[in-house]
Amino acid sequence: MNPSDMSNRRALLKFLAASPLLGSIAAAERALAEERFIQSAAEGLDVFEFEAAARNILPPAHWGYLSSGVDGDVTLRANSAAYARWQLRARRLVDVSKMDLSTEVFGTKMATPLFLSPIGSQRAFHQLGELEVAKAAKSRNALQVVSTVASMPLETIIETRGAPVWLQLYTTNKMDAMQKIVKRAEKAGCPVVAVTVDTPAGRNTATATRLRRDDTRTCSNCHVVGPTGNPAPNLALKPLFAGIDTQGLGQTSPSLTWDFIKRLRDMTTMKIVLKGIEDEEDARLAVQHGADGVYVSNHGGRALESGRGTVESLSEVVRGADGKIPVLLDGGIRRGTDVYKALALGASAVGIGRPQVWGLASFGQAGVERVLDILNMELRLAMAGCGARNVREISAASLYDTRRG
Ligand SMILES: Cc1cc2nc3c(=O)[nH]c(=O)nc-3n(C[C@H](O)[C@H](O)[C@H](O)COP(=O)(O)O)c2cc1C
Repeated sequence: MNPSDMSNRRALLKFLAASPLLGSIAAAERALAEERFIQSAAEGLDVFEFEAAARNILPPAHWGYLSSGVDGDVTLRANSAAYARWQLRARRLVDVSKMDLSTEVFGTKMATPLFLSPIGSQRAFHQLGELEVAKAAKSRNALQVVSTVASMPLETIIETRGAPVWLQLYTTNKMDAMQKIVKRAEKAGCPVVAVTVDTPAGRNTATATRLRRDDTRTCSNCHVVGPTGNPAPNLALKPLFAGIDTQGLGQTSPSLTWDFIKRLRDMTTMKIVLKGIEDEEDARLAVQHGADGVYVSNHGGRALESGRGTVESLSEVVRGADGKIPVLLDGGIRRGTDVYKALALGASAVGIGRPQVWGLASFGQAGVERVLDILNMELRLAMAGCGARNVREISAASLYDTRRG
């Protein structure tokens, strides 16, 4: 259902509730009372209101794809829960009348350190998918990272964004196919490629599979069954695979090793970031093998089950990177204070996956904009409360670690 369908539904419910001619008045009134979802992006006060609105509007299978972790969703829950470990230390009587949230990573200037993580198949959430996100990214000057399995052509996304985006790369299992994607992204002007390394062997998205059973639509038009029996994008339908033989092509390769970085380096001038690093030693290896950056992520709890929340791995990864390369992070960010904590623990920028889609699904561009605005407003308030006037002044000194006391 799109937003206009939703307002039509409300209008119908109102009509039924008001009509003396229809027998279901009580039921309609009850349904109307239960309609507590925000009706416009501007009404949203926190990202959870967009989550509720998105859930209400999306078909079960697409909601399942969005909300699913793996197995029992334990890592997924850990991502958000982990932020509670740290509390903020307030600082007083600092002049915070002028605040500057802007930052820069690899020469990409951003209005704030909050960026839009790569999410595949965004047309599953809004008819214009990635283009609505690009419009919001443009109006808020936010970095957009575009998925290999985006449902809109990369060049159109960049044109809509009006500035370069970063490419998220699934390597596929065939080097020549990957090279075509990399070359296309380079030609389109992407300055950075974030290679996802966290799902080498597929995954078991049980929640998504369960919710798909409630969906009466035909899914095989868009999806194929992946290696673990779970639905996977049909690569042949994805614009970045146009002109590439997708017969027998997998999204990822189970045989990648560290020498892959050099192979990619020989292929492209784009900066190389490894997405999905969670371990100190891996961060060290990334530096040794010439990666330009690491991106702490567990794919939003969609890769390894029973893992830690990403923010709990952050300090270790920062130690492994040793100030030599920037560290990015995503996973479980739902509040500006979460962003603040991740920055204080050493992240250079912080991404949102699902909250971006909650905004997209419920109100398109306006929804993504409002989600960004809310999180950035919360971040600004956290910074002011901790006496940090710009992102450089955010430091671990303003965190209280409840584990250490
Ligand atoms: C529906 C969905 C699709 C995703 N698609 C991709 C993708 O194509 N490539 C990728 O590297 N990560 C993908 N991710 C992971 C996100 O980039 C990001 O790591 C994660 O969503 C962050 O966690 P959060 O959703 O709690 O913010 C996806 C996540 C979701 C929820």
